[in-house]
Amino acid sequence: MQNFENFLLKNLPVSKSIHPTYEEALCKMLVAGGKRFRPALLLGVVKSYNSLMIDGAMHAAYAIELLHTYSLIHDDLPAMDDSPLRRSKPTLHVAYDEVTAILVGDALNTYSFEVLSNAPFSDYTRVQLIRELASNGGLNGMVLGQAIDCYFENKPLAIEDVKILHTNKTAKLIATSLKMGAIIVGLEELGEKLYDFGIKLGLLFQIQDDILDVTQSSEEAGKLTGNDEDKNSFVTLLGLDETMREANELASELTIELNSFDENLQRELSPLLMKYINRHK
Ligand code: IPE
Ligand code: IPE
Ligand code: MG
Ligand code: MG
Ligand code: MG
Repeated sequence: MQNFENFLLKNLPVSKSIHPTYEEALCKMLVAGGKRFRPALLLGVVKSYNSLMIDGAMHAAYAIELLHTYSLIHDDLPAMDDSPLRRSKPTLHVAYDEVTAILVGDALNTYSFEVLSNAPFSDYTRVQLIRELASNGGLNGMVLGQAIDCYFENKPLAIEDVKILHTNKTAKLIATSLKMGAIIVGLEELGEKLYDFGIKLGLLFQIQDDILDVTQSSEEAGKLTGNDEDKNSFVTLLGLDETMREANELASELTIELNSFDENLQRELSPLLMKYINRHK
């Protein structure tokens, strides 16, 4: 992923203005790191089917990371999860102020679509990618999930509804990262299959995140943990043991599905997925 980090550093959002800290704040969370899981998924799919398209695919991988980073900045706001730490750095509303965190989030959200609109693909592919990211990251995807997450604090949901919550707030963006890779290489049918796989993977990813909230220290996680007590997290509702069982079951299903993929795709995705399929253990 070194190439991705280099691309990101070369394409950071730029703003030359009279504002003394705006530009620094725009870049702070992006350069703070993170697992880059979603970009790695997209790039893994592209590399499997057409490695010549990797340079172009960087634009789309970056767009997803921009949108994801905006979602984290807003997720940490006092009105949402009220968290002081992200990617091992003070959150923007702590380092600067709430206005800065809100506006940087807004800016990264729109910048992600600007990046996609300038990506070196045909108009058709660009529109498909923009539609995918908007519909999975927006009002019927991540934003809906976050709305449900915050509205139902201290109001326990049925576990089936928590799956809907997790699917929206987390799984759709992960699923579309795989699908956007397939769109770039022109394999639309594969995109649908990978999307379904990605929804399950994203559900596991969020269940694991719920587990890590109670098993990791804030220092280990680089973000505030022990913060989900009021949330409809799997652990809050089912307890740690039952959540672990649920995660193990999903992980085994995903491992079997992964083995049904084309060999080249398995070769690219396996090392990445193995790390995350088992990260709750
Ligand atoms: C955190 O996402 C928010 C969730 C959807 C659980 P990541 O765990 O991918 O966060 P970074 O990108 O590594 O910081
Ligand atoms: C947030 O879920 C998912 C997003 C859409 C950002 P969490 O609130 O559990 O994420 P963390 O634990 O703060 O990273
Ligand atoms: Mg949250
Ligand atoms: Mg949070
Ligand atoms: Mg969490």
